Amino acid sequence: MTAVGIDAIEIWTGKLRLDLPNTFAPEMGEDPEKYTKGLGLESSSFPDVYEDIVTMGANAAKRLMDRKGLTPDDIGRIDVATESAFDNSKPVSTYIAGCLEQVYDGDFHHANKGERKFACLAGTQSIDDAYNWIKAGRNRGRAALVIATDTALYERDDPGEATQGAGAVAMLITENPSIVELSTEQGYGSADETDFLKPNQQFPSVDGKRSVQVYLARMREALEDYESVSGDTHPDDFEYVPFHTPFPGMVRKAAVLGYRHTSRDTEIEEELTDEIGRQPREADFESREEYTEAIRDYMDDLKGMDQYREWYAETIEPTLSISRNVGNWYTGSVHIARLSALRHALERGEELAGKQMLVGSYGSGAQAEIHAETIVDGWTEHVEAVEVEDQLARRYDISFDEYELVHDVHNHEKEVDVEAFTTPEAEFVFTGWGRMNERRYEYVE
Ligand code: CAA
Repeated sequence: MTAVGIDAIEIWTGKLRLDLPNTFAPEMGEDPEKYTKGLGLESSSFPDVYEDIVTMGANAAKRLMDRKGLTPDDIGRIDVATESAFDNSKPVSTYIAGCLEQVYDGDFHHANKGERKFACLAGTQSIDDAYNWIKAGRNRGRAALVIATDTALYERDDPGEATQGAGAVAMLITENPSIVELSTEQGYGSADETDFLKPNQQFPSVDGKRSVQVYLARMREALEDYESVSGDTHPDDFEYVPFHTPFPGMVRKAAVLGYRHTSRDTEIEEELTDEIGRQPREADFESREEYTEAIRDYMDDLKGMDQYREWYAETIEPTLSISRNVGNWYTGSVHIARLSALRHALERGEELAGKQMLVGSYGSGAQAEIHAETIVDGWTEHVEAVEVEDQLARRYDISFDEYELVHDVHNHEKEVDVEAFTTPEAEFVFTGWGRMNERRYEYVE
């Protein structure tokens, strides 16, 4: 069977940086450790005044095309995943294709373009669509360009304001990929939930605490569903487990749940029995509530065990390094978690070819998806080429007053005239609105 997966990745971060513990927390009257220790965040990325989901997506895509030496003719499909779209009809992918056509010979008239929506899950769903398109043999030798792009902004004073972010991830999906091959096996956990939504409004309505519980419940279902096709999983089966990361603290909760589930009935559970007992079994309890409470107690104990802490440090912590510094990128978030892990492995000279990752994606509303990825020979060259640290370091640090202005600039209800904080160079920029209220873009040399 032909291998299909991710052949190249590029990112584009919003060009402004807000320091959460030192700039944001004091102004909000909060303890900086809520950010660094609780949520696990250092800073977030914001778009400058000339940036939006189109410029960030097009800029990430251009980097990817330039690096791979691609022309529009090499790409048969452009799917954009976003939950920050500004048009209910014209997809963001048409705007991005229009941008790219300004700088490449040829056009994308032959390319199937679309926009995928299921909250933060849509980036993974777009990869899935590309995978199926290639597996079905409909791609005529062409690759699919998947772009996850979002400005994850919340209403001022919403608790979600702590977890904002903005950026794009472009990924090339091909046959015989250079980074990872995707598993055919997948698991889903999906239910009609009201945890986070945007009913025709720019900023989300969020039940934050509930959204955390819904994430965990759907992720657990997805893992069980995945195991129903792949067979039982064990914590040591995977080098890394990148999760959707709205903030690293969320992943901390998901990880302990995942470890408990996958270590059940294994030698790990046996080893831990003397210290924290066996895992509670539902059949031993009279009510669901008693069982749930016992599970909660077990997981509290499990978090302190060396076995778990070592597994977490090696398998989960490396997935969080980009997210910690950029905040939530919604659809792109799980894809920067994968990239963080691979960058970490590269720095440590790990030999990963043939090894596996388990990838847990999630979208509010709500659905989780889990699949495995096998890292392929030659991955290092393609991961090394992604410019991550420089992009993050080049961001302009905004003060709290500047943050308030930037938030207003990107609030569709407000009209404010704010000077850009950075100077665009070799990138697409937003230039204003056209006669049909369409957004307009140009490439700045
Ligand atoms: N020192 C150390 N830790 C501290 C602390 C301090 N001084 N102060 C607070 N903390 C800890 C808290 O104990 C808490 O950790 P635990 O959950 O492990 O107990 C954590 O920091 C956050 O503190 P609060 O719960 O008090 O924070 P909050 O009331 O501001 O709400 C939130 C947090 C609900 C996540 C909120 O930021 C929010 O609504 N975010 C948006 C929704 C979201 O991201 N949900 C995630 C699941 S849904 C999803 O994944 C889709 C998506 O992308 C949106």
